[in-house]
Amino acid sequence: MSFCLRKLLVKLVIMNKLVFPENFFWGSATSAHQIEGNNNNDWSEWEKSESRVSELRSRGLKPEDFISGKACDSYNKYREDIDIAKSLGHNMHRFSVEWSRIEPEEGNFDFNAIQHYKELVKYMKDRGIEPMVTLWHFTNPFWFSKDGGWASPKSPERFVRFIKVVVDNFSGLGVRYWATFNEALSVYIGFAYLKGVWPPQYKDPKKFLKARENILRAHTLAYRMIKDSYGAKTDLGGRDQGMTSHNVEVGLIENNSYVPEAKGLIRNWMRGKYKKIRNFYFFDKAAPHYDFIGLNYYNIDRKPFFGDKNEILQDQEVNPEMNWELYPPGIYHCLVDLKKYNKPIFITENGIADSSDQKRVKFIKDHLTWVHKAINDGVDVRGYLYWSLLDNFEWHHGFSPRFGLVEVDYKTFERRIRQSAFKYKRICEINSLEI
Ligand code: FCB
Repeated sequence: MSFCLRKLLVKLVIMNKLVFPENFFWGSATSAHQIEGNNNNDWSEWEKSESRVSELRSRGLKPEDFISGKACDSYNKYREDIDIAKSLGHNMHRFSVEWSRIEPEEGNFDFNAIQHYKELVKYMKDRGIEPMVTLWHFTNPFWFSKDGGWASPKSPERFVRFIKVVVDNFSGLGVRYWATFNEALSVYIGFAYLKGVWPPQYKDPKKFLKARENILRAHTLAYRMIKDSYGAKTDLGGRDQGMTSHNVEVGLIENNSYVPEAKGLIRNWMRGKYKKIRNFYFFDKAAPHYDFIGLNYYNIDRKPFFGDKNEILQDQEVNPEMNWELYPPGIYHCLVDLKKYNKPIFITENGIADSSDQKRVKFIKDHLTWVHKAINDGVDVRGYLYWSLLDNFEWHHGFSPRFGLVEVDYKTFERRIRQSAFKYKRICEINSLEI
């Protein structure tokens, strides 16, 4: 169906319903290190390091709450997790493959780990859930990190060598959606190479710039490699379930916050510059080498300049367990901003950490109302993936923020579906938001 027709159709508000386009994808997202358990990578090393443990103790915190350990044990329980997603009406699931499992030592690939991910993909496909495979989501093998990480000139080729093994071995599974990097430039390199918060904990502008350049190069090489690989398969008769370089979609995922205008010319100018780097740098530099955009949207960012206070405005809702300022219309503005790239967009993450589950339904509905408006205004949005299917290991915040549609008991690994998940299920199933 042509995009104009889709647009017309979604314009219809039938019986107090905001109807989403036909074939819209609904689901949730996860990442390997946050859910799998027993990973050995640069994060797990850092979580257990003496400096990290004593830093946490000095703040009166229990280090064990900040060690990923068994996480949600999803490496073993993936069938249960996918069954839950299916029971909740999801038709897409975004997950990531863990590089350190697949290439535990440089150049040595573990084919059991690859087999695991193949089974995961097959399990989804057999249940009518479209997989979106993220190839990199914040973690690196320890050998990679120790040898310069992303600041090393060898990093782009190392990354592409790893993902080539994944792509080649996934041949025949019919994976259509691949995402190279998750929030690599909008979030990761700042924390890992400039602020010294995440491993490898550099506070080094030179390394930051090198890492940025290398990630950009890695993305472009990865994009070409994946497309070429599917092109070659077509020549061999399109044996990958009809997947060709034309319909395999290689995307790029970034976190965009809504950056509102500031008072005063200079402050406003600086906000504009900040927004350009924060939200658009990767998309600008990597163009045209991506087929879709993944937007992770969580909050409004009132970046302070020249004495502005970075305070959350009074009466403004916050994400209760992260203290991020919520602003649902911001997702609309971010989507409209991204329209200039002329690519289909997936909301690849959007969620709230709320163990009480009191605010989640409103959060989802409010954001979806604005997503719907963006679609009506001509933004080509293809799907919405809530963050996250499960409560999980929230990076340096540990286990306390609970983003899940499904509650996880970290002692028994029992899963309990939250009430909000059933409300979201209804939206997914009727492809509409009742208002
Ligand atoms: C995003 C990350 C994701 C999760 C959410 C809350 O920035 O991509 O892994 O931590 O935030």
